[in-house]
Amino acid sequence: MRLIIRDEAEAAASYIANHIVDRINAFAPTASKPFVLGLPTGSSPLPIYRDLVSEFRAAHVSFRHVVTFNMDEYVGLPRSHPESYHSFMHANFFSHVDIPPENINILDGNARDLQTECDRYEERIKTAGGVELFLGGVGTDGHIAFNEPGSSLSSRTRIKTLAYDTVRENARFFGGDMEQVPTMALTVGVQTVMDAREVVIIATGVGKALAVKKSVEEGVSHMYTLSCLQMHPSSMIVVNEDATMELQVKTVRYFKSIEPPTKKSLDTRL
Ligand code: GLP
Repeated sequence: MRLIIRDEAEAAASYIANHIVDRINAFAPTASKPFVLGLPTGSSPLPIYRDLVSEFRAAHVSFRHVVTFNMDEYVGLPRSHPESYHSFMHANFFSHVDIPPENINILDGNARDLQTECDRYEERIKTAGGVELFLGGVGTDGHIAFNEPGSSLSSRTRIKTLAYDTVRENARFFGGDMEQVPTMALTVGVQTVMDAREVVIIATGVGKALAVKKSVEEGVSHMYTLSCLQMHPSSMIVVNEDATMELQVKTVRYFKSIEPPTKKSLDTRL
C-alpha cells in the first residue's frame, strides 16, 4: 500500500484526478474494451470530480468508453431525492462529461428484491471484465463503501444496516436531522473492492486521522475495513496533512521519502 501525502485537500484530490486521467489514457479504452471505474460519493471526492470535469473540458480525457460502478446507495430513498447517490453522481459528475448513460451502474436501493439486485450487480461487474480502478473514500469509523465495522473482509454486494456513527455523520446532508437519514444501504463488499486491479482512496481532514492510522500502522481488521488494502497488490491512500494527525512522525517521513518522483520534481532538479 502506498500513502501519498499532500499539504492540502485540493492537492490530494488533484493528485488522484491526474492519476485517473493518466490511467484511462494509458488504457486507451474502446467500445469493446472499456475502462471500468468504481466510484464513491461523499464530500471528500467532490474536488476530484471537479478536476475530472475540468480535464474533460480541456479535452485531456474522455469518458465515452468508461463504464462506471458506484460503491453504494441508500435503501428506500427515492432516486430523485437530492441526497440519493443517483442524484449526487449526476449533479457532480455524470451530467458534465461525455459518459453514455448506458455505461453508468448504480445500485437500485428501491428494487423489489434487494439481494437479487446486489447479486446482479456483482454479475454486471464480472461481465464488464472487473473493475480496473476503484476510487473510494473512507468513513470516520474506517468504513470503505458502506462496509461498517465488523463487516466480513470477504463480503460481496449486499444490504447493510448503517452504524449509528454513520447515520449521525451523514445527517449533515439531511439538514442535520438524523431521522431523515436512511438506516440501510446497498453496498459493494470488501471483497468486491479488493477484486479491483487497483484501489485509490481519498482521506482528508482530521476526522479521518484515526481511520488512516488504524489502516496504515495497525493490522488488517474488520473493525476498520479500509485496512483490507494492506492485502491488495496495488493500492494507495492519498491524504492531506490533517489526515496524518494520528500517524507517527516516522511513518509520515517514511512514506514521504519513498514517494516516486513526479515529472515536475524531476524537472526542477535539472
Ligand atoms: C459515506 C459513503 C462512503 C464515504 C463516506 C465518507 O459513508 N458511503 O463511501 O467514503 O461517506 O464521506 P465524506 O467524504 O463526506 O467524509
